[in-house]
Amino acid sequence: MVSYIDYKQAPLKYTGQIRLFDEEAFAGMRKVCNLAACCLDALADMIKPGVTTNEIDRFVLAFGAREGALPADLNYRGYTHTCCTSINHVVCHGIPDDKPLREGDIINVDVTFILGGWHGDSSRMYPVGTIKRAAERLLEVTHESLMRSIEVIKPGVRLGAVGAAIQRYAEGERCSVVRDFCGHGVGQLFHDTPNVLHYGEPDEGPELREGMIFTIEPMINLGKPGVKVLSDGWTAVTRDRSLSAQYEHTVGVTATGCEIFTLSPKNIFFIHSA
Ligand code: MF3
Ligand code: CO
Ligand code: CO
Repeated sequence: MVSYIDYKQAPLKYTGQIRLFDEEAFAGMRKVCNLAACCLDALADMIKPGVTTNEIDRFVLAFGAREGALPADLNYRGYTHTCCTSINHVVCHGIPDDKPLREGDIINVDVTFILGGWHGDSSRMYPVGTIKRAAERLLEVTHESLMRSIEVIKPGVRLGAVGAAIQRYAEGERCSVVRDFCGHGVGQLFHDTPNVLHYGEPDEGPELREGMIFTIEPMINLGKPGVKVLSDGWTAVTRDRSLSAQYEHTVGVTATGCEIFTLSPKNIFFIHSA
């Protein structure tokens, strides 16, 4: 059975308990999550045909450094870059390289900064120039599935309701939900309890309580849900090579609902194709 603990009473390591955070923690999360959101906003002007994902990676590193933030990805389990850049049929954990983006690509950039000891984790999709209608629809469905799942969050609801909302919407739109990766508790640790599944039943999982902080980051495919990890040990791709999309917010449970920490200051979390 899952148990809950006041974060100030818990050691700074994985314990399997769900941490409950206070206003001081929420203030720290607001700051770092806003920085991640500002960085993702700034990338919208940069992402065009011809730009390489290494250029995006260097931009993210410099953006954080200007504000005194470190990238959580760098050296995480041996990862050697600042962010993840997942193009087309890459589901997640795409590694930046020197290949230029091409007109019609869709790319997810996933950024996690650490500031004042707090982790801010968010990702979005960017259309590269003009994209096909099927790709545009996938981005709409993925974004909408995330936002619908956030709407169900309040104390007393079970975490399974979050995944159920994503699955019901995405599958209703003839898309599929990736099972192999999930959202996660986040705060002073990058990946903490609980696992946030993007599918399931509303009466499953731990009960949501005020003060919980976690990510929701559905990966939705146009084809089948199966994925495989390439021999680099990171890059996850769809087995059927169908397009995949992902959006990620970091949220906190409040007394009456939830606060989205990674909202876009420019209101460009979802970008329509050119
Ligand atoms: N930001 C990813 C997440 O949403 C994790 C990336 S870990 C890395 O949880 F090592 F691949 F960078
Ligand atoms: Co995450
Ligand atoms: Co992330």
